Amino acid sequence: MKEKTVAMRKLLTGVTIVTAKVDEKVNGFTVAWITPVSHDPPLVGVAVHPKRYTLELIRKSGSFCVNILKEGEEGIELARHFGLKSGRNLDKFEGHLWAEGHTGSPVMKDAVAYLDCKFYSSCDAGDHIMVFGEVVDHGKRGDDDLLVYRSTDYWG
Ligand SMILES: Cc1cc2nc3c(=O)[nH]c(=O)nc-3n(C[C@H](O)[C@H](O)[C@H](O)COP(=O)(O)O)c2cc1C
Repeated sequence: MKEKTVAMRKLLTGVTIVTAKVDEKVNGFTVAWITPVSHDPPLVGVAVHPKRYTLELIRKSGSFCVNILKEGEEGIELARHFGLKSGRNLDKFEGHLWAEGHTGSPVMKDAVAYLDCKFYSSCDAGDHIMVFGEVVDHGKRGDDDLLVYRSTDYWG
């Protein structure tokens, strides 16, 4: 099993921060297991471990925003910040600029592009939950390349 999951890491994915907001609580978590899945309607699929605090916020708000990170050290630092600790008892957004998107979910200033999504459906997927979102708004800032996931950037 372990060897198979190591081989799965050879699949190329980008690094994103998936954000959600409920009342005054704003949070986000780093996600590398994310992919487009449908043109019509435009859907993205996100593999979320059931323990992620952000999943609770997505369920409550019915929406989330996929913030696509920029290649380079700045993007890697953001991915570490949002991906190596939970926001359940702390404010990961302190010092980070964001604005409410169309759905109310946080659009991050440092994202190169974003997909603002309305919750579409979800299903169990092994030890994760596949959450599908319909893209209802999107945006792009500049022409920077996106951050590609390399496990060594995070786990040594
Ligand atoms: C580079 C990177 C990629 C990650 N990808 C995922 C992912 O695809 N799905 C997931 O559930 N967790 C993923 N994680 C772990 C979560 O981001 C991490 O557990 C986070 O602290 C959860 O935050 P939350 O509890 O505030 O939602 C990733 C972490 C890193 C550093």
